[in-house]
Amino acid sequence: MEVRARVPLKVIISGEHAAVYGYPAVSAAIGLGVRVRAVESDGEGFLIETELDGPGPGRVRARVGASGELSRVSSPGLRRELRYVASAIRVGAREFSPPPAEVRIECEAPPASGLGTSAAVSAGVLAALAALSGEELDRERLRRLVRRVELDVQGKASWVDSTTVTYGGVLSVSGREFRRLECPRDPVLVVAYSGRPSRTGEMVERVRRLVGEVGDVGERVMEVIGEVVSGVERALEEGDLERLGRLLDVNHGLLAALGVSTRELEEVVHALRGAGALGAKVTGAGGGGCAVGVFEDASRAEAAAELLELMGYRAHVTRPSPRGVRISG
Ligand code: PMV
Repeated sequence: MEVRARVPLKVIISGEHAAVYGYPAVSAAIGLGVRVRAVESDGEGFLIETELDGPGPGRVRARVGASGELSRVSSPGLRRELRYVASAIRVGAREFSPPPAEVRIECEAPPASGLGTSAAVSAGVLAALAALSGEELDRERLRRLVRRVELDVQGKASWVDSTTVTYGGVLSVSGREFRRLECPRDPVLVVAYSGRPSRTGEMVERVRRLVGEVGDVGERVMEVIGEVVSGVERALEEGDLERLGRLLDVNHGLLAALGVSTRELEEVVHALRGAGALGAKVTGAGGGGCAVGVFEDASRAEAAAELLELMGYRAHVTRPSPRGVRISG
């Protein structure tokens, strides 16, 4: 038996970091994604093969035992990237008792790019293993299992990534609660990779230290980001892309104030604005990873992406995607 899962990646449109301090965040599933193909096999445990996108050694093969232990990693330097796969297999094996399988994973963005690759890979592996086991897995249960994997690997996680990649759409996420935003005018998004990985845990810690050092001022920045998020929700629901862009620019300034922008991210944000973005900002934890620009029309967005490619940055034109996890086969 063979099954396939497709899971979208995500961008945080507004509210990263403030989410850690209890404020809502607005996120969107996007057209880029992760594909997982699982084929039942005669062997024992799980054979993993993955093409890691971006700079790096490319194809990795590894074996994961039924209880999630990693062995025979063909590029030991990539063990870190496989921890989510191993943990998803451990959780999946406990929940659904899947048969041994070969699991192939393809991802359309580099790991640690701030686009939710870890959550998407985890969701894809869990959904594929459930389907191989003949288990009905509803989205709510999947979202909780993805979060369990994130907690297992990284110790702390908000609900933003697990919820967005599982359900798809444009979402306002507050703690574990979320609501879908109806957007009469979908923005065109350019997602550009700064070329450096973004380590969420380290950045959250850095922001925590800063807030500790500057006291009230740091907390007020979080409060203002919370207000920006409310404005972003309204702008999206009213289809006011110009106001959305202005608010994203303000949001970027506040993220820079928190110390999570970098020279490359600034260059990308300014290039996006110079190329006609209505607004642009860091997306995700920062310190590397991606920036996102909002455009009204696709041809301008294409031109902006081309410019960024010429500058040496990888860039994709995409839109919010209503689709979450899909299974076939
Ligand atoms: O994991 P990323 O890069 O999409 O960013 C997560 C957003 C943070 O607010 C920085 C952390 C969190 O858990 O909400």
